[in-house]
Amino acid sequence: MSALQMPRPEHVKPVELAQAYRLMNHGPTVLVSSSHGGRHNLMAAAWSMPLDFTPAKVCVVIDKATLTRKLVEASGEFTLAVPTRGFAAQTLAVGRTSATDLAEGMDKFSQYQLSWFAGAQAAPLPQACTAWLECSVIPEPHNQQAYDLFIGEVKHAWADERVFSTGHWHPPQDLPQHLQSIHYIAGGSFFAATESFSTEPQAPCISPVL
Ligand SMILES: Cc1cc2nc3c(=O)[nH]c(=O)nc-3n(C[C@H](O)[C@H](O)[C@H](O)COP(=O)(O)O)c2cc1C
Repeated sequence: MSALQMPRPEHVKPVELAQAYRLMNHGPTVLVSSSHGGRHNLMAAAWSMPLDFTPAKVCVVIDKATLTRKLVEASGEFTLAVPTRGFAAQTLAVGRTSATDLAEGMDKFSQYQLSWFAGAQAAPLPQACTAWLECSVIPEPHNQQAYDLFIGEVKHAWADERVFSTGHWHPPQDLPQHLQSIHYIAGGSFFAATESFSTEPQAPCISPVL
């Protein structure tokens, strides 16, 4: 077992798949975790989103030049994780380094000392995140080739109950700053989710609640 592997933390709880879309509905930057043949990897992705409620689906752009792409294509699986503000520097690091450029035998978990725990699939779940969606690839060869776009069906979902419980994110203003989610702009800058608010629709409005 890797020195960086830890038991699943107590505060990490399963999320009903019908509510998995909520883990990404607010548009966070995510990490794509992958694994094949005993090789683990992690990259950042700003271009991802939920795609369907039931069965829960997500999509993410994974460039052809990445090692992640090779591992995802070989395994047919990927995991999206929602990193925290306290993990922004590491998010940038795994997004600006390709595992193909690391010394022989190193992966990004060892290079950046990133703790992880096991999920239901082979890809490691990076610890300093608040939500994890373990997906199997729904093969769409044209989209993958033409647009680098991968669609995944969410098979298992997890969240940190200190931050997401009973199907809802807790208001970010009630959280310690380091647990807020992050949203990439460019050039090493992020927005942090610091405040939520609720409103009522302007009348008349006849759409169902969403
Ligand atoms: C904040 C951030 C967001 C990124 N978003 C994406 C993305 O949505 N899709 C993508 O293919 N690459 C994206 N990248 C670039 C990959 O993370 C980068 O190419 C990474 O080094 C690939 O690692 P790998 O070759 O080890 O898989 C992003 C980088 C950063 C820093």
